[in-house]
Amino acid sequence: MGIVFRSFLLAVLLLAGLAACKEEAPQPPSASDVQRAESLRPASSELRARYERSCLACHTSIDARAPLTGSVAQWKPRLDKGMDLLVKHAMEGFNAMPPKGLCADCSEADMRALIVFMSQEKEERK
Ligand code: HEC
Repeated sequence: MGIVFRSFLLAVLLLAGLAACKEEAPQPPSASDVQRAESLRPASSELRARYERSCLACHTSIDARAPLTGSVAQWKPRLDKGMDLLVKHAMEGFNAMPPKGLCADCSEADMRALIVFMSQEKEERK
């Protein structure tokens, strides 16, 4: 194999590798992602109370390493796993995500509604 061809092959492999990385690792959260997360609340007052008392603490913090509320790009790979699995993980816990997100009185339907809210960019602003 000639050196030119080998360098070409290497370049192609590198580019393919970079493209794969780009697809899998979403952009790290920025200050404006945090600002957006902090400004969003569920429209329903009941859900809002549950959200503020539990999910908000972690899902508006970069340090908690939880997908940020309203960051559609961060939620995309989660949603791709399927809503039913996300609800199951939210109910039972998932790595550093505690069971029921520490919301003792949250029903499964609440969890589902909270996930829909957190994974979108809209709903009521603070
Ligand atoms: C103590 C911090 C904490 C609280 C409170 C919390 N979460 Fe999380 N959550 C996390 C972390 C950290 C992750 C990321 C876990 C991972 O991917 O390893 C996560 C991930 C998730 C996921 C994605 C699970 C998956 O399969 O990818 C869902 C859904 C979720 N949280 C819902 C909620 C809901 C709903 C609430 C409020 C009722 C809540 N969380 C409260 C820390 C928290």
